[in-house]
Amino acid sequence: MPLKDKVLAVLEENKGKSVSGSEIARSVGMTRSAVWKAVKILREEGYSICAVTNRGYCLSEENDFLSEQSIVPNLRTKEIGRKIDVFKTIDSTNNFAKSLAQLGAVHGTTVISEVQTQGKGRMGRTFYSPLGMGIYMSVIIRPKLSVEHSLLITSCAAVAVAEAIEKVSGIDCRIKWVNDIYAGSKKLCGILTEASVDVEQGGLEYAIVGMGINVQNVNFPKNLANIATSIKLETGENTSRSLLAAEVLNCLEERLANITDKSFLEEYRNRSNVIGKRIEVTQGDRISTMTCTGIDEYGRLLVRLDDGEEKALSSGTVRLSGEERPQ
Ligand code: BTN
Repeated sequence: MPLKDKVLAVLEENKGKSVSGSEIARSVGMTRSAVWKAVKILREEGYSICAVTNRGYCLSEENDFLSEQSIVPNLRTKEIGRKIDVFKTIDSTNNFAKSLAQLGAVHGTTVISEVQTQGKGRMGRTFYSPLGMGIYMSVIIRPKLSVEHSLLITSCAAVAVAEAIEKVSGIDCRIKWVNDIYAGSKKLCGILTEASVDVEQGGLEYAIVGMGINVQNVNFPKNLANIATSIKLETGENTSRSLLAAEVLNCLEERLANITDKSFLEEYRNRSNVIGKRIEVTQGDRISTMTCTGIDEYGRLLVRLDDGEEKALSSGTVRLSGEERPQ
């Protein structure tokens, strides 16, 4: 680990408190002047570190940069997030995670970035990923799952992310089938799962669970303003993105551990904002209005068409009747 990262780890551990140069030097095994140089580099990178005479260095509590040093101490996981790549900028964390997975990256490997220049959404859409505002994170998972159970990964991840956001921010998070997290009538987070199937073994080879959470945004471009929200807009408070990212990874590991018993589905249904509602479903070019009656054991959307026919949908985009469309 580069020296400046060792210094950063000590400062993150003591965020908001002063640590003397000699204490840092002792714990990372370097000289005080090397500590001073490392602090200088960190400041040049944008970290707000004050130096108080006789008291030492202090990393400001307001500092919200994402780093391995700020995320890992908050993990309670065994595997997920234990290998983590943090980028200042990237095209798409899902794309990078996919290339790592193809090279054999281990279960739980996580990729996170401060900004995405080509963030991907479902159905070929883009995901708005401005600098320093959100959590843009992808996790490689390699659970031993049949193809049938693999289809549940997205809904299982939606429960985990909803629980994590609620735990950290207090927001009552609802899930819009299949994988959007809502606060009230606006979207707070989207999830894109991309999977590779092992054709010979007939099971899942790996899946990339990509999560985009709006955290600090105070405004959105015109086409999103009426449909998107952020934790900051909902609570009026600043949320530590590092703490939230770690909590998402904690909840994800916990929920995935029990994916085959499908216990997460009860929580998924409790958090659903479509069950019992009139909805509009887009499948390809076709848009139809129907009533949602539930979510089945395969995570499929149960609907009643207006002619009384009952169906289970495995794909499509759902809009609540009256909900605004993106422009
Ligand atoms: C959607 O709302 O349609 C899904 C959005 C998923 C966005 C996340 S951000 C991290 C990961 N990398 C991507 O390119 N997309 C996902």
